[in-house]
Amino acid sequence: MPKAELHLHLEGSVQAATLIELDPSLDPDQIAAHTAYTDFAGFLKAYVWVNRLLRSPEHYALAARRLFESLQAQGVVYAEVTLSAGVVLWKGQDLEAVYNALYRETLRAPFPVHWILDAVRQFGPEAAVPVVEFAAAHRGRGVIGFGIGGDEVRGPARDFAGIFDRARKAGLRLTCHAGETDGPESVAAALDIGAERIGHGIAAATDPALSRRLRELDVPLEVCLSSNLRTGVVPSLDAHPLRRLFDSGVAIVLNTDDPALFDCSLESEYALAASRFGFAESELRHLAENSLRYAFAPRGALSSS
Ligand code: HPA
Ligand code: ZN
Repeated sequence: MPKAELHLHLEGSVQAATLIELDPSLDPDQIAAHTAYTDFAGFLKAYVWVNRLLRSPEHYALAARRLFESLQAQGVVYAEVTLSAGVVLWKGQDLEAVYNALYRETLRAPFPVHWILDAVRQFGPEAAVPVVEFAAAHRGRGVIGFGIGGDEVRGPARDFAGIFDRARKAGLRLTCHAGETDGPESVAAALDIGAERIGHGIAAATDPALSRRLRELDVPLEVCLSSNLRTGVVPSLDAHPLRRLFDSGVAIVLNTDDPALFDCSLESEYALAASRFGFAESELRHLAENSLRYAFAPRGALSSS
C-alpha cells in the first residue's frame, strides 16, 4: 500500500544513533535519560533537548538524510515534513542556511518531499512573523505549508489569525496542531483561522457539531496514536477515539509525529490501527489513500519522476 507521512517533525525523527553521530560524546544512557518523559510538558522538554543538538545546517541535513532513508525502507512514497523553524530562530541559528542544507537533501531524496514550516504557539504571534515570511519566500522551493505547534493552551489559535491570513495570501497551505492537549474549542478555533488539516484533533470526538463541521469542510485529522499514548493525552489506546472518529466519517490520516521520541514507525501505526482498533484491510487501504488525498501537494507531484 503506497502511503505518505503528513505529520512528521524532522527533529522528533532523529534516532539515538544519529544523535551520537552529531555529538560523539553522547552515550545511549544519557540520550535515554534526556528523552524520557511521562507527560506532554516532559515531551516538549525532550523535544527541545534534541533540537539543541542540531547545532549547524549540516546537522539538520544529516537528520533529514537519515529520515528519508528510514521512510524509504518503509515504503513511504511521499512526505510533508515539518521543520520547527520557530525553534531554529529561537536558537539564534541562520534559518536560510539551515533550510538551504535541507533543500539540498530534499532534491536528492529517494521520493518527493515538501516542507511545512512550523512556528511555536507559546512564543506568540510576533515570533511567528519571520517564520511565515521565510516560508512565503521559499514557497515553490520545497516549502508547501505553514503550521503552528507546541503548547496550544498557552498559544491560542485566534492569536495567529493574522499570521494565517498572511500565509494563505502567500499561497502556503495551512495546518494547525489542535485538540491534542486542549478541548474541541481549540479545534474550532483552528478551523476559524483557516486550518486545512488539523494536527491530532482528537478532542473533536467529544463534540458532534464539530465532527460535522470537519466533515462538511473535508478537513482531515492527522492522527498519531503512539504520540497520544506516550504524551499521556489519552490514558490508554483503548481510550483513543480513532475508531469513533473514523466511523463518524471524519477524514483520518495516520502519522508518526515524532517517531524517534515515540518509538514508532508509520508501519507500526498502521499495525496498531489493525490490531488495537480492528481496522480491516479495506479500511487500512482507505487510510493509506487518505494520506495521498489530503497531501497539500497536487497528485501529480506525489510520485518521483
Ligand atoms: N504537538 C505539539 N508540539 C509538538 C508536537 C506535537 O505533536 N510534536 C513536536 N512538537
Ligand atoms: Zn506534531
